Amino acid sequence: MLTIVICVGSSCYVRGSDKLAETFERLIQQEGLGDRVELTGAFCMEHCSMGVSVRVADQVYPEVYPDDAESFFRNEVVSRLGQGAK
Ligand code: FES
Repeated sequence: MLTIVICVGSSCYVRGSDKLAETFERLIQQEGLGDRVELTGAFCMEHCSMGVSVRVADQVYPEVYPDDAESFFRNEVVSRLGQGAK
């Protein structure tokens, strides 16, 4: 199971962490990854001055924006799942 953690602390929230979560949720459904990817939230990852902080497995990406959600998901999430992604 690959875990994605989206920061929902106040700084990230105003930068659109809820939109990011919606997009990830939609892509997880769309790609049928519900049993392979777990989406959860956390309060503050200590990069508040940057974009929305997202952690995928043990790597933190401190600068993700809602507009990049789809490409981020494909590049950083689907790619980690390898070929069995579908
Ligand atoms: S609120 Fe998201 S890193 Fe601090």
